This record gives sequence, structure tokens and C-alpha cells, in this order.
Amino acid sequence: MPRNRSVYRCAECGAEHPRWAGRCDSCGEWNTLVEEPVRRARKSGDRLGAGAEPVLLSRIASERLHRWPTGLAEFDFAVGGGLVPGSLVLVGGEPGIGKSTLLLQCAARLVAGGVPVLYVSGEESPEQVRLRADRIGEEAGAVYLLPEVRVDAILSRAASLHSRVVFVDSIQTMYTDDLEGAPGNVGQVRECAARLMRFAKESGAAVVLVGHVTRGGIIAGPKTLEHIVDTVLYFEDDGGSDFRILRAVKNRFGSVDEVGVFEMTGAGLRPVENPSAAFLSGRQTNTPGSAVAALMEGSRPVLVEIQALASKTGFGTPQRVATGLEHRRLAVLLAVLERRAGLVFRDLDVFVNVTGGVRLIETASDLAVVAALSSTLHDIALPADAMFVGEVGLGGEVRPVGGVERRIAEAERLGFRQVFLPGRSRPSTALDLVSINHVSELWKRIAA
Ligand code: TYD
Ligand code: MG
Repeated sequence: MPRNRSVYRCAECGAEHPRWAGRCDSCGEWNTLVEEPVRRARKSGDRLGAGAEPVLLSRIASERLHRWPTGLAEFDFAVGGGLVPGSLVLVGGEPGIGKSTLLLQCAARLVAGGVPVLYVSGEESPEQVRLRADRIGEEAGAVYLLPEVRVDAILSRAASLHSRVVFVDSIQTMYTDDLEGAPGNVGQVRECAARLMRFAKESGAAVVLVGHVTRGGIIAGPKTLEHIVDTVLYFEDDGGSDFRILRAVKNRFGSVDEVGVFEMTGAGLRPVENPSAAFLSGRQTNTPGSAVAALMEGSRPVLVEIQALASKTGFGTPQRVATGLEHRRLAVLLAVLERRAGLVFRDLDVFVNVTGGVRLIETASDLAVVAALSSTLHDIALPADAMFVGEVGLGGEVRPVGGVERRIAEAERLGFRQVFLPGRSRPSTALDLVSINHVSELWKRIAA
């Protein structure tokens, strides 16, 4: 038996160290040493051993290419149509956001569809999981629950139960004796994930990991796992709303940026089939400062309300507060309005809010933000049945954006009548199109 069972490798330069140190003496970087197990050197004969057999692509059995839809439509949508056999999926999110609830619901749906499921709980007792199962009102009785944190014990159980989907809640509690570090440190998290990955590939089971994301970053976050796993989903809310958005940020088997929208209720997560209607549900149409934008969440258009409020500032420096919108984008749009349309916000506090906890990542919502800002400044409400699509440039020009037809079709479905958009976009639609080529035209066309 060698004395050291693990080594510490520098994540920067790859140098190996027999024990942990704060600084890598090879490259001089601080805090980069990560524990990893020493793999026993193989006998030289093994190196020429048979290993895996090459297979013709055409001969690969296609049952491996099937997916297991969970039946929880919004989850399936985010993973691209269901869990892929042999894949490793990471569901990241802040503690308390609802990851365990989501995955228990998936587990219940899968067993209902005849897929054998193992739910490994490293954080909660079986009684706690049972209480949650009762609460979500789904029949989860056929889910095997395993309260265990040692990863090798989990793998042997999963193998003997022939589980097709294994949920691991959470990866930060998983542990292997082969490393000295405590559960949750980078070395443990990576090694456990790597073993689960090997298990998934060899057995053809899908493994779904929960990973907590903490703001402090003390526990090794899912960031360290993103390149190991096949699919990364983030489960998030924004500013305490009951809506939860499941977002794919990496997907080897589907498209990224697909989202599923849920609402956290007293009885578990409810899929929101019609996110646009949900996000617009609280809208007060005759209030100044409210405008509707159409975002593309993956391939799906989603309508959201943008609220702006400008009020006389009480202090020397006016405040700029943006929720769901980048501060810098707001600053740019305010400057453009001031210089190109003569709307002065200099002595005003400006608050902008996107409802439903959605984030405006696309510049396609610029025109809607500009409309909301103009509306609050004039203190006149925008037409209730109008939607705004377009990117705003520094010269005040309004530019066409992609996916206009799909965005407009969604607006039409929800009863909108008018679309304000750049003149160069010529979608075919039954809605009234109002061309806006420059931000200075916007208010004239609205007032007209
Ligand atoms: P949980 O799934 O435990 O979050 P995570 O695993 O991401 O830490 O969910 C925690 C929150 O969800 C908790 O505050 C209670 C709430 N909740 C509901 O509102 N309704 C429900 O039906 C359930 C099960 C939980
Ligand atoms: Mg949990």
C-alpha cells in the first residue's frame, strides 16, 4: 500500500504535489490545488489489452438513442425532449429554489411511465422526502429512496436495482473514501461526478445531479462541473416571485437556451404552459410606464411587461435601479433618449422592472424599454394592445431583430392589435404595424 492515497494537482499548471498547500510552488498561483485520487498504475501487459470494441455507427442499437420523457412537459422541453440514456445532467440553483421538489416530481412521473428510478438523498431523511412527496400530490410510491452519501455504495445499489434514472440530491453531499477532503470540496465534487458519469456511460442509465449554487462560493459550485456533464440546467427565480425558470445553458443532446417555466404553489411546482399570459396577468393597462416586449426564450416567444417609473429625485445624484435588465443597458437607453429624442431624465430617479422574474438578455426589447421610459416621462399610458420590438442603436436608430414573425404570432395569439417595429421589418401578419425608424418618432406615432 502506498502511503499517500491521493495527490494534489494544480488546476493552473497541472503540477502534482504530495500534500495540499495554499500556493503552487511550480507556477506560483494561489489556491489552485485540487485533491485527486492516485490511480494505481496498471501492469504493462494491460496497456495492450482489448479495451472497448470499435462498433460501426450503423450497428449501434437505437434504443440507446431514445429519450425518457418525464411527462413534466416544461422539464422535458428544457432538456430537449426527455432524459437521454447514459447522460449526466446537472440541475443547479440556489438553496431553497425548488430543485428537490422539481426532481421528485420528475421521479414520480418517470415511475408512472414505467421507468425504474432511484432517488438518492444525501441531505434529507426519508421522512422528509416522504413529506414532500405527499405535498406535491403525485404518486411517487414506486420511487426507490436511498439515504446515502458514499458514491460507491450508491453506484452498487443503482446497479443492483437496475435503475434507469438516478437522481443525486445533492452532489455537494457526495463522498468517496479515496480522497481525504470533506464532501463539497472541489476534489470530492469532481471525483464523485466523474464516477457517476462513468456509471451513466457504462450502464446506460441517466444520472441527474443537484448542485447548489451559493453566492459566497464556499461550497464547490456547479461551475466546476459544467464541462464534465452533458447537460447543465439552471433553476432560478428573480426577486422573490413564485415563477421559476429552468434554463438549459449547455446541452449535448439538444439546443441551449430552451426554458421551462414553473410556478411554485402550495402543492409543488406547476408547469406554466402559457408563460406569456402568466407574465402579463397582473398588468394594469392604463398605467403610464408599462410596455410589452416579446423575448425569445430559446425557440419560444414569451411576452413580458416592462415597467418604468421616473420620479423627482430627493438626493443629489439621481438613482438608476433596474431589475431584470442590465444597469448598463438602461444607462445607454437613457442617454440615447436624452440626446436623440430630447427626453431629459437628468433630475429624475429611474426605476425599471421586468415582471415575472424574466431577464432581458436580448437587445430586441430595447424599443419596449424606451417606450416604457417615454410613457412614464410623459405620464401617459401606452395603448393597451400594443407590443414593441426592435433594437436601439446609439444614434437613436431602431434596428430589425430576428424572429419577428414568431414574436408577432405570439402577440396575436394573446389578443394584441398593434406592433411598433423598425420599418425594415416586413413580417406578414394581420396586426397593425407601426414603423419606427428612430427613437424620436416613437412618441409622435404613439400620440397620433
Ligand atoms: P426545495 O425543493 O427543498 O428547494 P431546494 O432543493 O432547491 O433547496 O424547495 C424549497 C422551497 O419550496 C421551500 O421554501 C418550500 C417551498 N415549497 C412550496 O412552496 N410548495 C411545495 O409544494 C414544496 C414541496 C415546497
Ligand atoms: Mg433540496
